Amino acid sequence: MSALLELRDAHVRYADGTAALQGVDLSLHAQQWHGLVGESGSGKSTAVRALLRLLKVDRGSVHWDGDDVTAVPERALRARRRLVQPVLQDPRSSLNGRMSVRALLAEPLDIHRLHAGAAREARLVDLLTRVGLEGSFLPRHPHQLSGGQRQRVALARALAVEPRALLLDEPVSALDVSVAAQVLNLLVDIARAGGLGCLLVTHDMSLVRWLCPRVTVLYRGRVVESGAADAVTAAPAHPYTGLLVDAAAGRAPSPLPVAASMVAPACTFAPRCPRATDLCRTDPPALRVVDNAGRLAACHHPR
Ligand SMILES: Nc1ncnc2c1ncn2[C@@H]1O[C@H](COP(=O)(O)OP(=O)(O)O)[C@@H](O)[C@H]1O
Ligand SMILES: [Mg+2]
Repeated sequence: MSALLELRDAHVRYADGTAALQGVDLSLHAQQWHGLVGESGSGKSTAVRALLRLLKVDRGSVHWDGDDVTAVPERALRARRRLVQPVLQDPRSSLNGRMSVRALLAEPLDIHRLHAGAAREARLVDLLTRVGLEGSFLPRHPHQLSGGQRQRVALARALAVEPRALLLDEPVSALDVSVAAQVLNLLVDIARAGGLGCLLVTHDMSLVRWLCPRVTVLYRGRVVESGAADAVTAAPAHPYTGLLVDAAAGRAPSPLPVAASMVAPACTFAPRCPRATDLCRTDPPALRVVDNAGRLAACHHPR
């Protein structure tokens, strides 16, 4: 079965020269959760924008439902955009503060000409109920809501158009731990009830282990490991994955942010890697199968 969304060998370079994606393969399948992990600056949000075709890949291709949409004109994609909805980290910036909850939820329905007329009001209340809120929230504005309530409204807005997939870009990292857990549980219930595919972007490996059967690990714009999340987190093949797993378990401080000025050696992780050898400093490790379960890792010395 073809993936809902897929990047093949995706390369993205920003206007200032930053090479944010350098040959990334990533796919999200129907009704599945897929974790995309990596520290800040590793290219996760760029990958999301490329999947949504909000930015163009310089090389490689983007596929929706098996169709190559890399060069399809925007107007031809408009109707299909509905099917994949992003939910971003900070609803304060993704929700227009001047709009009421009613207007925020009505906007996507207007754009896609859904539930007009008498059915509209019931639809709005139903959306709020699905995210654990109620109709009394309709006249409120974002600044009158808590962080968790704002993220629930953002989720209701995404659900308004009946998507098949959600791209969750650090959806709870702006929330307190207990609120974050509530919102994640809600996401799990909603995804299950609606049969949604979910790409979960996070730097937190423990979330991935909890929610995602499969995971892709990005480091400086490249996939360094991918496979079944329980196997990857239990025994990381790539030392960078090991660092993320240790950080999530509280065994190590969070990995340092990526230094943009770092000179790229053959393996970009080599300067931080306890396992690095001369080979790693002269020879780029290709992403290859490292176990008999199809796990991929880009490392000369996988575990
Ligand atoms: N609009 C942009 N212009 C230039 N560089 C950018 C832009 N957005 C992101 N970057 C850079 O691209 C790299 C990847 O960024 P991003 O995809 O946001 O990573 P992540 O979501 O994993 O934190 C980083 O080095 C970041 O500074
Ligand atoms: Mg990001």
